[in-house]
Amino acid sequence: MKRTNIPLFTINTADFQENDLDQPAERLRNGGLVAFPTETVYGLGANALDPAAVARIFETKGRPPQNPLIVHAATITTLQKLVAHWPKHAQILADAFWPGPLTLVLPKTPIVPDLISAGLDSVAIRIPDHPAAHALIRRANVPVAAPSANRYTHISPTTAQHVLNDLGDYLSPHTDAIVDAGPTTVGIESTIVSLLGPEPRILRPGMISRTDLRRLIPSTDYAPGISDPNELSNSDDNTPKLSPGLSRKHYAPQAKVVVIHPNQSFYDHQNPRTGWICLQSPKNTQYTDRTATFLLPNDPHAYAEAFYNALHHLDDLGCESILIQAPPRTDAWHAIWDRLNRATS
Ligand code: TXA
Ligand code: MG
Repeated sequence: MKRTNIPLFTINTADFQENDLDQPAERLRNGGLVAFPTETVYGLGANALDPAAVARIFETKGRPPQNPLIVHAATITTLQKLVAHWPKHAQILADAFWPGPLTLVLPKTPIVPDLISAGLDSVAIRIPDHPAAHALIRRANVPVAAPSANRYTHISPTTAQHVLNDLGDYLSPHTDAIVDAGPTTVGIESTIVSLLGPEPRILRPGMISRTDLRRLIPSTDYAPGISDPNELSNSDDNTPKLSPGLSRKHYAPQAKVVVIHPNQSFYDHQNPRTGWICLQSPKNTQYTDRTATFLLPNDPHAYAEAFYNALHHLDDLGCESILIQAPPRTDAWHAIWDRLNRATS
């Protein structure tokens, strides 16, 4: 670990007691920041009802105040207290996907601090699917505001080590903590769905895809500006954003990222400062000997689980550029294309 003076609580998810998290839970309740695992990425948590604690999230991340936060809880009842109204679509999606990598945007009540919602009338809420997150939230007994635990525009962390590398210098050993429960399994951030209008609108694609959502609510679609997977390369930053934090320049490594399309030559770059992310295929196995090469699975879920870790690793190796073989352009890969487009912008 880069720094050891931030209290680190290591949890074996297969075998732990809820009170193993009493100390970080107390720090959370007392206004400290606690980074913790969810199934998607590590979050940087603060007591959502404590505006001073929430303000420290923005400072610590270097995040602009116009970018609202997601509130996490362990039960629907807790989250329902934060929203002015709970439509039928919310119940349908919560029943199907919570706990899980889905965030719902709903009208907020006045108990949600304005800082969390960045002055909007709505609040984003989610029940994560991770035993350590649940234990921490239950022991703290407060709703937890948590963005991804990285500096603004950096890649989201999928391990406690990523959190420490990026935020170690900004956290306080006296008030804050990190909970380490190993690598996250979904690997990219939750799908965000707005329920502010009559029909669900996807604000940020995630591993719960439009196809998954349409099985329950057929009228679900992408919000304006979140284009069809087949047109993603044409999306630009001029479309008005319904979700203020979703600027293109996000989730970016230090290295220059280039997506290599099927008709472009992929293998004739011999620069040792170049990192590679390729798809597993018989014709790619010859490249495994390169230290800076990741062969990621052809399945979108397994790819997502490994993707940010590969970017972090190649950045840590000091790669000047990262070349990524284009994955398929289907709905199941939409969230990955979304992150690829952000990383290259
Ligand atoms: O998987 C995840 O969602 C992770 C884990 C930790 O839960 N969290 C996460 O948070 O990715 P963050 O802050 O990095 O991204 C949340 C995004 C913001 O960029 C913002 O655009 C959107 O959620 N958001 C939050 N509140 C919103 C609101 N009221 N209306 C529209 N978008 C909102
Ligand atoms: Mg983030």
